Amino acid sequence: MLKTDNLTKIYGGLTAVNNLNIELESGDIMGFIGPNGAGKTTTIKMVATLLKPTSGTAYVDGIDVNADPDAVRPLIGYMPDFFGLYDDVKVWEYLDFFAAAYRIPVHKRKGTIDDVLELTDLTIKRDSFVSELSRGMQQRLCLAKTLIHDPKLLLLDEPASGLDPRARIEIKELLKELRNMGKTILISSHILPELADFCNKIAIIEQGKLVVSGDVQAIVEQCQGGLCLQIGIVERAEEALEFLQNLDVISEAHLEDDFILATYVGEPDCHHEVLQKLAENGFKVKSFAEADMDLEDVFLKVTRGAVS
Ligand SMILES: Nc1ncnc2c1ncn2[C@@H]1O[C@H](COP(=O)(O)OP(=O)(O)O)[C@@H](O)[C@H]1O
Ligand SMILES: [Mg+2]
Repeated sequence: MLKTDNLTKIYGGLTAVNNLNIELESGDIMGFIGPNGAGKTTTIKMVATLLKPTSGTAYVDGIDVNADPDAVRPLIGYMPDFFGLYDDVKVWEYLDFFAAAYRIPVHKRKGTIDDVLELTDLTIKRDSFVSELSRGMQQRLCLAKTLIHDPKLLLLDEPASGLDPRARIEIKELLKELRNMGKTILISSHILPELADFCNKIAIIEQGKLVVSGDVQAIVEQCQGGLCLQIGIVERAEEALEFLQNLDVISEAHLEDDFILATYVGEPDCHHEVLQKLAENGFKVKSFAEADMDLEDVFLKVTRGAVS
């Protein structure tokens, strides 16, 4: 659905985006993460056909953004980091304006507007003036506008920034709904954990360069050096720890609170054998699970924090 090919933008002497290669399959939700000034907005604007790359290009659904921007635009929904809303219009008028701009036929507009209002939970604000909406509602209205032409690929530039915790949760819920609708989404943030629970892919960018990208789980394992197991043992925890440390498939193990955290480096999908070995040796295992991945740790590990 989206593939960038050595995408590059140079402003004067500054390389804002440096030979960037990322790829999203249909239905992927990619968290595009990097500190302020890393080049996220510049990348997204190039994909959105609003900024010409210095070199390289991007393909949306196979169409080159440089060669045929007009064909790309109907496929994408771009939500900028700073957006202007027209204050002296009503919510439905605002959406109607964009529906017209996207050449949605008059007889279909009301239905389309009703749908996006419903999705963004703004139905009751249909006849309110845009200026009367809270910041969170305005953000959702902007998202409604972004969805009006039913784009396949959403490009969302820090959609949760500047919102209070409640409004952030509302945006998150909405994004989950969009994911369930099968949209492909590239979403940027400078805060990694914010994206962790609904992205299947991440790309981390720093000073215009891609630091790491791909499947979330694979990246976490790569950075941790293996799969992290969280094991709860009744009695003899110290002994169990030593036992685990001596297993070939465990590269490292330590106690944390009431659990043993062990890094599994054996064959994929065979970590149940660790559980079996513990039981065979008389250890009473009360819980055995893949530990929650700590994306924040991964972020700190792979970025040097050169720009922040
Ligand atoms: N129009 C511009 N002219 C010159 N430099 C720019 C321009 N836009 C962005 N930059 C610079 O490019 C770099 C990347 O910016 P940006 O893409 O906005 O990063 P991010 O969105 O990750 O915070 C920054 O160093 C920024 O100052
Ligand atoms: Mg930005």
